[in-house]
Amino acid sequence: MRELPRTPICDLLGIRYPIVQAGMGAPKGGPTTPGLVAAVSEAGGLGCLGAMGFSPDELRAAIMDIRQRTDRPFGVDLILPTRLPVGYESRDAARDAISREHPAHQAFREDLAGHYALPDAKMADSEVISPAQITAQIDVVLEENVPVFVAGLGDPAQVAEEAHRRGIIVMGLAGSVRNAARQKAAGVDVVIAQGTEAGGHTGAIGTMALVPQVVDAVGPLPVLAAGGIGDGRGLIAALALGATGVWCGTAFLFAEESGLPEVQREQLRRGMPDDFVVSTSYTGKPARQYKNEVVTSWSESGLPSLGMPLQTVLMDDFVAAAQAAGRFELTSNPGGQIAGMLNEIVPAAEIARRIVQGAEAELDRLDRLSAGLATKPRLASPAAAPPGS
Ligand SMILES: Cc1cc2nc3c(=O)[nH]c(=O)nc-3n(C[C@H](O)[C@H](O)[C@H](O)COP(=O)(O)O)c2cc1C
Repeated sequence: MRELPRTPICDLLGIRYPIVQAGMGAPKGGPTTPGLVAAVSEAGGLGCLGAMGFSPDELRAAIMDIRQRTDRPFGVDLILPTRLPVGYESRDAARDAISREHPAHQAFREDLAGHYALPDAKMADSEVISPAQITAQIDVVLEENVPVFVAGLGDPAQVAEEAHRRGIIVMGLAGSVRNAARQKAAGVDVVIAQGTEAGGHTGAIGTMALVPQVVDAVGPLPVLAAGGIGDGRGLIAALALGATGVWCGTAFLFAEESGLPEVQREQLRRGMPDDFVVSTSYTGKPARQYKNEVVTSWSESGLPSLGMPLQTVLMDDFVAAAQAAGRFELTSNPGGQIAGMLNEIVPAAEIARRIVQGAEAELDRLDRLSAGLATKPRLASPAAAPPGS
């Protein structure tokens, strides 16, 4: 059996396998628990906490929790929107703006809650995404000297220099070649090229087309491939496209340690690839998620997205009401197309082990294939075929 080779990302991050578990911060505190992050790092990959929406205290506590579980490297992923409007520093300010300026959107949310007879509930204030909150989160990441910082949406330039001064490795997500070039110019150490197949916020270009173009555009910077990678075949394909490893989100939603409600796990388990659609319904930015009734109602409403953070604030109150009623099937369930292939809930270490083992089996298969190709013609030519065959 061939052994999965170490790649440059293994040396850069101090890990055994070129597998990074993607930071997944939505729904808040759900998928990437400290237990999941530590389990992936312990298994030889890199675990990454999705900390979107965490208060600074919650973020610090989660980092400490991870450090108590493992002394291996790990990452923290934050989203850094570049164009958050000022003036929505509180959720109530954003709610006021919605009711004043977007009554049709407010009516949509209220009608929907009425349709499901949901109780009155509101999302807590501390969870609003605002420039002040993001700045405070970044301060925690820097003060805590986390080994790896990942910028989801947005521009990491504001963080890269100080992070590097502290020895923190910086990675940035890109869904297009242009964005990848911007990430490189911002000073990241690793670009994550994420194709449209991905769960969560996503662009329009497929992984197969995006990864080699990003590799060519940002080289010699290492590139992680993301979007639709969930087994060893995907890992080997990513390496063949020029990536140095993979950034897998949806695959790790199937980990025992990921903190999803059972009904959402069931949606992921049963979903076919085309059940995971791109919608602006819950956050205001295009995000791939399980197509539940809310996603359908939003698309039928014909309303334009309010963008971030107003659409998020609008729908967060619906989500809070659905959660209060235990109706988790109505809450956002981001997931990627690869979920169609996955259906078993197992420990995170087992997911990592299966990816590695599958990749090694794939290397063997490719060896056999090329040995066969070297000795046999692929197709007998008609002239060479025996008569009557
Ligand atoms: C449930 C879920 C939540 C996510 N939350 C975030 C996030 O908070 N920040 C971020 O940068 N990316 C987020 N993503 C995107 C992932 O980091 C990753 O890029 C994506 O899952 C890779 O594609 P895959 O799902 O096909 O593996 C999320 C993805 C999912 C499925």
